[in-house]
Amino acid sequence: MKYIVRVLTVSIMMTALIAQGASAQTRKSQRPADPANPLREIISGYYFSSLATRALQDDDFDNPASLWIQEGEALWNKVEGQANKACASCHGDAKKSLRGVGARYPAYDKQAKLVINIEQRINLCRVRNMKAAPWRYESGPLLSMSAFTKSFSRGMKVAVKVDGPAKQSFENGKKFYYQRRGQLNMNCAQCHEFSYGNRIRSDLLSQGHSNGFPTYRLKWQKVGSLHRRFRGCNKQVRAEPYKYGSREYVDLELYLAWRGNGLEVEAPSVRR
Ligand code: HEC
Ligand code: HEC
Repeated sequence: MKYIVRVLTVSIMMTALIAQGASAQTRKSQRPADPANPLREIISGYYFSSLATRALQDDDFDNPASLWIQEGEALWNKVEGQANKACASCHGDAKKSLRGVGARYPAYDKQAKLVINIEQRINLCRVRNMKAAPWRYESGPLLSMSAFTKSFSRGMKVAVKVDGPAKQSFENGKKFYYQRRGQLNMNCAQCHEFSYGNRIRSDLLSQGHSNGFPTYRLKWQKVGSLHRRFRGCNKQVRAEPYKYGSREYVDLELYLAWRGNGLEVEAPSVRR
């Protein structure tokens, strides 16, 4: 009996080890869409997650972010504001009208004359078109609606535009990315461009892409925005974080999305 137990334990350990090895090997790497990308290969954060975390993301039934998508769907159909309209009144079937939108944002908005992200796009519709109050950044409704919106681009390739009127925003974002900051005097590239695949404390460093956002983080026990992640990464190097929805972060968001152009949209993903 003891012998059988020992053989079983050893074989379970072996399987776990093989699975770990396999996870590193099956990391899907591809060439970036733009040859000007400083990364020679682009890899989604998904492949730096444990197999258990990936499994949560892969199964809509287990993915805890599904609750946010459901809430987003309810809000999509809810009449609000002085114009007495719901999102659906103008946009109809979200499956059709929102398809691909999540892959294109941040994007330049002609009326605002600015590059805006998906959260800001949603709020513009609330203010401009529904005559309703904007949702607060990082509030439940805004996270739900951005998760809902992005879910219709799942599997499509990230494809943000950075030329023309978006160029200045892109350049500002790039500058931010490479600027050293905080007491540790580090920039984003030191962790996510030059050190991905290495461990930092208990974390395996990824390339820090945005294709999974908004994301359900096990640490947060809820869905959070990319700007929440930016704030966390700023604080890690003991730098002062910027405000949610700040110009600096939207520019950084555009630049980061471009680094991941060609990756599949996974939002809402699951991460540790
Ligand atoms: C009264 C009609 C109306 C309502 C209500 C409305 N929108 Fe819009 N939406 C528009 C129009 C028109 C545009 C095109 C840009 C513009 O003129 O603002 C747009 C653009 C968008 C876009 C960008 C699409 C793209 O291809 O870039 C998104 C996303 C969006 N709306 C989401 C929403 C959401 C979410 C709601 C509800 C909270 C909503 N809209 C409510 C009329 C509306
Ligand atoms: C000291 C190292 C460090 C620095 C500097 C740093 N990060 Fe991170 N970042 C991490 C760690 C650790 C994680 C969690 C594991 C992972 O995905 O790399 C993370 C995760 C991320 C993620 C989530 C990736 C995903 O797939 O969920 C994004 C996006 C990100 N960082 C962006 C940035 C940006 C932008 C900067 C610069 C403002 C930055 N990081 C600076 C350590 C760092």
